[in-house]
Amino acid sequence: MKPLSYLPPRNSRPIGRIVRAEIGADQLSVNLSSDTDTLSVTIYNTRIVRIQWHNGPDIFHQVVQPLLDPQLTPETLQLKTVSDGFVITGGVATITVLSDGSVRITAPDASADLGGWGASGTARFVQMLLAPSERVFGLGEKTGGLDKRGRRWTQWTTDVHPHTPDTDEMYQAVPMMLMARPGGARGLFLANTFRTYFDLTSPEIATIAADDGPLAIYCYLGPTVADVLDQHTRVTGRPTLPPRWALGFQQSRYSYRTQTRVRQVAAEYRRRGIPLDVIYLDIDYMKGYRLFTWDADRFPDPAALTKELADQGIRVVAIVDPGVKIDETYAVYQSGSAHDAWIAYANGEPFQSQVWPGLCVFPDFLRSSIREWWGSLNREWVMAYGIGGIWNDMNEPALFGIDPRHPEIGGHATDVGIVHRNGEDNPVPHWGVHNVYALLQAAGTVEGLMADQDTRPFLLSRSGFAGIQHWAAVWTGDNSSWWEHLKMAIPMCINLGLSGIPFVGPDIGGFFGAPSPELFARWIQMGVFFPFARIHSDIGTPDQEPWAFGPDVEAIAKRYIGYRYRLLPYLETLFEEAHRTGTPIMRPLFWEFPDDAAAYTVEDQFLLGPMLLIAPVTEPGSTQRVVYLPETDWYDPWTRRILSPGWHPIESPIDRLPIFIRSGGIVPLGPQVDSTARLRSRWEHGEDGPDEIWIIRGQGALTCYSDDGETFAMARGYWRRIAVTVTPEAADTIITVTGQWPDVVTPPTKHLRLRISPYTTRPTSISLDGQAADGTWIPEHACLEMTLPPLQRNRPVHIVIR
Ligand code: GLC
Repeated sequence: MKPLSYLPPRNSRPIGRIVRAEIGADQLSVNLSSDTDTLSVTIYNTRIVRIQWHNGPDIFHQVVQPLLDPQLTPETLQLKTVSDGFVITGGVATITVLSDGSVRITAPDASADLGGWGASGTARFVQMLLAPSERVFGLGEKTGGLDKRGRRWTQWTTDVHPHTPDTDEMYQAVPMMLMARPGGARGLFLANTFRTYFDLTSPEIATIAADDGPLAIYCYLGPTVADVLDQHTRVTGRPTLPPRWALGFQQSRYSYRTQTRVRQVAAEYRRRGIPLDVIYLDIDYMKGYRLFTWDADRFPDPAALTKELADQGIRVVAIVDPGVKIDETYAVYQSGSAHDAWIAYANGEPFQSQVWPGLCVFPDFLRSSIREWWGSLNREWVMAYGIGGIWNDMNEPALFGIDPRHPEIGGHATDVGIVHRNGEDNPVPHWGVHNVYALLQAAGTVEGLMADQDTRPFLLSRSGFAGIQHWAAVWTGDNSSWWEHLKMAIPMCINLGLSGIPFVGPDIGGFFGAPSPELFARWIQMGVFFPFARIHSDIGTPDQEPWAFGPDVEAIAKRYIGYRYRLLPYLETLFEEAHRTGTPIMRPLFWEFPDDAAAYTVEDQFLLGPMLLIAPVTEPGSTQRVVYLPETDWYDPWTRRILSPGWHPIESPIDRLPIFIRSGGIVPLGPQVDSTARLRSRWEHGEDGPDEIWIIRGQGALTCYSDDGETFAMARGYWRRIAVTVTPEAADTIITVTGQWPDVVTPPTKHLRLRISPYTTRPTSISLDGQAADGTWIPEHACLEMTLPPLQRNRPVHIVIR
């Protein structure tokens, strides 16, 4: 075993000498102890190893993880004593622990070395060996490039405005890293809710530390990136499957101040034929920023407003912050006080701080009873006013000031003296709950929204911790209308996906400031291909709707938002995969091409699912960019050319976003609609899913997924899939299409269209299940189109094109 050459921080002490090992009676864990310390080891199914140095409150395992529906089965362990330590085996893993605490984990195609455990006060740290060729991704929402090595990162949920390249702490705290290189991937999750640190400045070693709490390290042994995300989302929860409308295009601003203005925005979208599914209500809809209230002058009839918008296929999502205004006449304050709901000092006196409404108190979401109370407030609110979903902001929690009664606590208002209670007499310092405050709020909100109804909820959250994916979409907070932030959104959102949080996107056009028409055009072209697609901007900034930048930019916006709607069957397929396996929707190039070394370095391009490569234009004045195409051939839909792997200069005039479909690509497409509401009845009529499947000749496979887009019926077996493969065989292209659905589901009725590209000359023959079949060669599109009879269950249709 290679020793770790770590220089411990001054005044730290190493872990005590490990002298004893004991296997639990159930054989599911081993405790290794010194006179002062205990490490415990558990091995879970699917190559997950947990090593935990016990210390302080374990909020992750006691409160957070049980809410996340973890999918873990511990393996039975064996324990052996060897000359200088102990050997633990279980499942496919072998773990050697030496008396100095060095740990070596091995499994087929993977290993991990941890050691140098140390403590300094309540803080704990450990080190992990990194291979020189290994790159580090994940770490949640961070500035900088794709590869996180070379910097020291802190996980502490923070309201930042604005963030710049040197910003470290952001709204989300995700203490998880993915290590990858050609040949394999592994991951590490520090299941600790206190402030945590990942020091990646050394070329050989990652130092991982926490201010307090257990050093609970989950090692994910991969060996592929997809395995690591599967492992991480078993530990921290699978991503939510949102309603289809949340995949549609969304418009927001701080704030649409009146219901008249909201109506106007909706009407403009419809008048101009620009697709839209959601309008957001920012804080000004409320009366004095009191949560769950309306300003009756500006929003005299909210229920009529949401009904009228629903008739146009537009949902309303309303902002709900955590801070509750201190106002003895305000029902939510009264009810919360009656529930003893507020975060307080140890003596029970509620903590107070300024946020939008003035002086506020803050619900203690650590307690299940308070989460339930909060959930019911949300539920009653959405039911009473026909609200589509909830937007949680300022939930780091962000504060404008300190408790006026306690000036001595200085800037870190919530760090000192404030406690949460988990159960009656169980005070936990705020700094152990801070990072999971938003996550616990999300749990309460979503549980409330779901109570006895079968509708999939939608929540958007600014802050979060590992696991937030189980309930919410996240946006990347207050970015700026800068080219730098357009560009940074790519690695930031890719890394969120690699941290287990797939439903992500930035404020399109930028929040602070005003984008130039060119910047807006480039941003909307890019933004429609992010999992979460919403325009948003700050108070006092100029209009940022698609038509605000003149007719040319409007035409670009309309066209690209339209592409998103045509791609909905593909997006639904990707969201369902994310929900089932943790696989991100927006992926780095190396996800699909792990053997291509250059694919690890490209950070201004991304893959949308396995089939599409998006290469946004990230510089002003540019009408060309170089694009890296990994490992295989790619089809350029703009020029209808096939490009070989490597670097290519690509024309990208202002209305053109470079986009490529891989050889063997299969892209399910739906109809051009202005709202997902138009797709609603398709499920019952057997018309759900794609109308058309675009196939690029080559070798590939995709199983398209569809359901009713709205309820949890899919969990009861109401879904349909279409498995498509394409294979070249000598001069032929062979395609199979197979319908799959459980027997409770009726067969689909539709005639699926296939479009196969490229065909620069007319194919000589087409057969369908051995019979000559019709197809239309369209020379100007260099493609062949054909229509299939309605699919039968599990019965493949074979197409041969020569
Ligand atoms: C915060 C949010 C922003 C919102 C504003 C007002 O800055 O990040 O999205 O518009 O508060 O609620």
